[in-house]
Amino acid sequence: MREHYRPRVTPASYWYVRPAAEGSPPAIPWSARFGASPTVGRVDTSYVPWRAAMERALYGPDGFFLRQAPAAHFRTSVHASPLFARAVAELLLRVDEALGHPDPLEFVDLGAGRGELCLGVLAALPPGPEQRVRVHAVERAPRPPDLAPRVTWADRPPEGVRGLLFANEWLDNVPLDVTETDDAGTPRYVLVRPDGEERLGDPVSGADADWLRRWWPSGEPGTRAEIGAPREAAWAAATGCLNEGLAVAADYGHTRADRPPYGTLTGYRDGRQVPPVPDGTRDLTAHVAMDTLPGTRTTQRDALHALGIAGSRPPLSLASSDPAGYVRALAEAGEAAELTDPRGLGAFTWLATPVGAACGHLLP
Ligand SMILES: C[S@@+](CC[C@H](N)C(=O)[O-])C[C@H]1O[C@@H](n2cnc3c(N)ncnc32)[C@H](O)[C@@H]1O
Repeated sequence: MREHYRPRVTPASYWYVRPAAEGSPPAIPWSARFGASPTVGRVDTSYVPWRAAMERALYGPDGFFLRQAPAAHFRTSVHASPLFARAVAELLLRVDEALGHPDPLEFVDLGAGRGELCLGVLAALPPGPEQRVRVHAVERAPRPPDLAPRVTWADRPPEGVRGLLFANEWLDNVPLDVTETDDAGTPRYVLVRPDGEERLGDPVSGADADWLRRWWPSGEPGTRAEIGAPREAAWAAATGCLNEGLAVAADYGHTRADRPPYGTLTGYRDGRQVPPVPDGTRDLTAHVAMDTLPGTRTTQRDALHALGIAGSRPPLSLASSDPAGYVRALAEAGEAAELTDPRGLGAFTWLATPVGAACGHLLP
């Protein structure tokens, strides 16, 4: 884990570029914000829709996530502090209680990276549930050779699960199409080459056009949208693996009230935000249209508070009675503050989708 890496939270001022008012500077296109895209090797001149380009660049042969560990390029809540896994373990215990202590109790980490959350949750469980729990890492990358055998590894969720499915910063990496409104006011698919060069393709039609009309109506020429339908299908498939329990997706996102007019698609590599070039050398991510998904939404800040991650400073008196304990508690308070920061990870949305009646009210 690289301590200095920042979370993949694009400041709102960055992507929320307002249309130019008279006398103000014009909206800044991607190419100008980042400079020309680098060209890797021979130029592939074929343009494809963004969804296909993301699929190939992230998960195709030699795709970014099949070769690269997420923690080598950016910092998620899982990497920020073991307190995050402790909170997820606490939620798993509440699911366990609500389901009447099933044996096995199951925990599924969807988009598991290198299995860090699975190991953290196992370590945080008390002995009884720890012995009953089955931990499943679901990940498209190969199993890390040294991962504890207690953790199963597969590229799709198991069937008939009773327990908790948790997907941290997964949905934002589910490939999707990007559209742009042309000069005549018609939304068109944005096509892209592997070197990042874009052009407009066919007008958006069929189910995609219906989705845009319902969730992200097109704006003036030059504005963009990101069609969230593949995320809805992915989430339906994920929650479909549960027989009974709770599915939670934690991610950065937006709702109809605050859609970004120029979209959010961007790249990350080596701890820095980079242009979204679909050449397999970088993470490609777009915020999640959270309100199109079934379930209840709360902020990570409120969810973690409800799960006992408070972030309050230890009393000064502890410094003299237990200096080592004081230093530990102070470090934990700092980590909790990062996880719950309302301008950072704390602003993430936790989408909770219960399956069955028992786990409907476990989060605020
Ligand atoms: C941003 S990383 C998050 C990793 C980890 N959850 C964390 O929070 O540190 C997203 C991960 O999801 C994985 N992923 C994407 N689509 C997937 C799918 N359909 N099935 C399994 N894993 C997937 C990627 O390979 C990548 O490792």
